Amino acid sequence: MRQAHERAMDLSTRYKKSGKRGVDGWFTRIDAEIFSTLLAFQDSHDIAGSCCEIGVHHGKSFIPLCLSLKKNELAMCIDLFEDQAKNIDFSGHGDRQILVNNLSNWGLEAGRGGSNIRIVTKSSEHITAQHILDVVGRVRFFSIDGGHWEAIVKNDLNLAAGVLVPGGIIALDDIFRAEWPEVTLAFGAWFDRTESASGIVPFACGSNKLYLCPRDYASRYRECLRTDFLTTFYAKTYKSKHFELDSYKTETRDWDEADFQQVCRTILKTFFPDFLIMLKTRKLAVKRLLHGR
Ligand SMILES: C[S@@+](CC[C@H](N)C(=O)[O-])C[C@H]1O[C@@H](n2cnc3c(N)ncnc32)[C@H](O)[C@@H]1O
Repeated sequence: MRQAHERAMDLSTRYKKSGKRGVDGWFTRIDAEIFSTLLAFQDSHDIAGSCCEIGVHHGKSFIPLCLSLKKNELAMCIDLFEDQAKNIDFSGHGDRQILVNNLSNWGLEAGRGGSNIRIVTKSSEHITAQHILDVVGRVRFFSIDGGHWEAIVKNDLNLAAGVLVPGGIIALDDIFRAEWPEVTLAFGAWFDRTESASGIVPFACGSNKLYLCPRDYASRYRECLRTDFLTTFYAKTYKSKHFELDSYKTETRDWDEADFQQVCRTILKTFFPDFLIMLKTRKLAVKRLLHGR
């Protein structure tokens, strides 16, 4: 049992560091790191439930959710797949067969008898919270990355908020992106209308996702994200009247104005983050040795 758990943790680490390169899609290293840290926290704090993703494409961000499943936990993904005529804003292009192959490359079987992964071909407009509860029960991690128009983003946020376990997390993709202003607008409108009723607040922002959870879990999740890796990418803490949120990001620079040091640091952060973390940790170890602390 313990061995199976350790094997799953090894696979998750391998996936975020290098494996995800072999899967087409959109999942930055910072968000992969945030996913794995939050999933590990849920694991060690007995926050149990299923994982769910709307908008799966080839499974790039769905695979780590499936790798985190424990015995008796289920995962579900919802995508249009072959019904791409309904993909009205052309975000990605789900392919069920490629998804199944990618899952299988990571030892995850979908669709077979006894499998704990459910693949649903539908527009999320035609899914209800009850449908999700019937298929996988309450959800501890819900990733939203399907249609990007305002009505569907609000629909998907309502679905997620309606099925979360206490301590459940929602990850909303493509927020604050110049290419998708509708996602930001939809989130703002949804949050204004539902925040006091749902009690769900943002607590972190990755390079392409906003992370939300019930208010009473927010400080614990913020705390758990302060790892060596993520603090290297920490940008700022935003304090609003309603919540506090930490941002983690690889900065985009005015490249024509960057000096040599900035270029080197950004190249390291973007292409070789593990090497940068190793340098940082070694430097700290040498400092401790020199100063006896
Ligand atoms: C940006 S991609 C998802 C990327 C994926 N999460 C990854 O890790 O790479 C968006 C996906 O949403 C699907 N999609 C678009 N509109 C949808 C809708 N109304 N309901 C469900 N899925 C939808 C598309 O088929 C596509 O696979």
